[in-house]
Amino acid sequence: ADHELILAIETSCDETSVAVVKGGRHILSNVVSSQIETHKRFGGVVPEIASRKHVETITLMMEQAVQESGHRLDEMSAIAVTQGPGLVGALLVGIVAAKSLAMALDVPLIGTHHIAGHIYANALIYELQYPCLALVVSGGHTELVVLEREGSFRIIGRTRDDAVGEAYDKVARALQFPYPGGPHIDRLAQSAEEAITLPRAWLEPDSYDFSFSGLKSAVLAAINQAKMKGEELDRSALARGFQESVIDVLMEKAIRAAKQFGARQLLLCGGVAANGGLRAALTARCEAEGVPLLIPPLSLCTDNAAMIAAAAHLKWKSGECTTLDMKADPGLSL
Ligand code: KG4
Ligand code: ZN
Repeated sequence: ADHELILAIETSCDETSVAVVKGGRHILSNVVSSQIETHKRFGGVVPEIASRKHVETITLMMEQAVQESGHRLDEMSAIAVTQGPGLVGALLVGIVAAKSLAMALDVPLIGTHHIAGHIYANALIYELQYPCLALVVSGGHTELVVLEREGSFRIIGRTRDDAVGEAYDKVARALQFPYPGGPHIDRLAQSAEEAITLPRAWLEPDSYDFSFSGLKSAVLAAINQAKMKGEELDRSALARGFQESVIDVLMEKAIRAAKQFGARQLLLCGGVAANGGLRAALTARCEAEGVPLLIPPLSLCTDNAAMIAAAAHLKWKSGECTTLDMKADPGLSL
């Protein structure tokens, strides 16, 4: 019964991506053009440049995604697009493209939440069982989300300052690694023989919120102190201390929440799901606690349009479409 083709567009940050997904779970194409090389020399994503790059690339991505899908553009049943959150200028490019397609083809437009996309990336691979808990960790997000049933999202915790990936990138920058620095810190940490103990921000005893800016400051302070004293810094021990602190807090809170909300599965989503230390620690802990852990393949963890199609499919099923006057919403709530 599920044969509808959703063409989805994702341009919320620095990846221009278009996908065609059949029946909400079969990926026919998922093309991604990353702007990392462009932003690298600035040490982070420059919003104005991101928008311009999306404009340059979006048409080609749409053509490629349709061609690779083996279908014609006029066979698409609906057009989905990330409405927010994200960089407003970047979101706008995808939204204008999506509206034009929806209008030209006379098919529904489905505005989609970026985090719903990260979570439903799992549905492209696994059979989800409810209630489940999603730990969303990326460059822009750190959230714990309870899904009581399909398509219902309740954010029970989020970062009060830096996102995890953001903290990784800032620490990496201080250690002179190129952007994005997360993978470099991960590698360095895993090569370390010892760890420098750093603080863990548990916040209030019952809180599921996170805070990583204090930890980041502690790392920067250690780097400065070594510099001032003229001592050699044990970079790998520092990276490992940072990584252990991050993983400890993420894991403890996720496991506590999984138990409290009776989660039948724990979903790890977002670009930081690539972190080797986090995957290993969560895998072992979830096994010990008897909570199945789902981690999509890396290509579906980082920003991509197939995950947007998967989330949009839920709205499609319930007939929740968006009108053509829909606007980009950088602060869209889940
Ligand atoms: O999901 P994503 O591709 O983009 C956002 O929506 O933000 O996540 C990118 C983030 C970057 O901050 C990057 O440094 C981080 O994920 N990241 C990692 C690793 N691989 C990517 N952080 C820690 N360890 C990794 N192995
Ligand atoms: Zn993302």
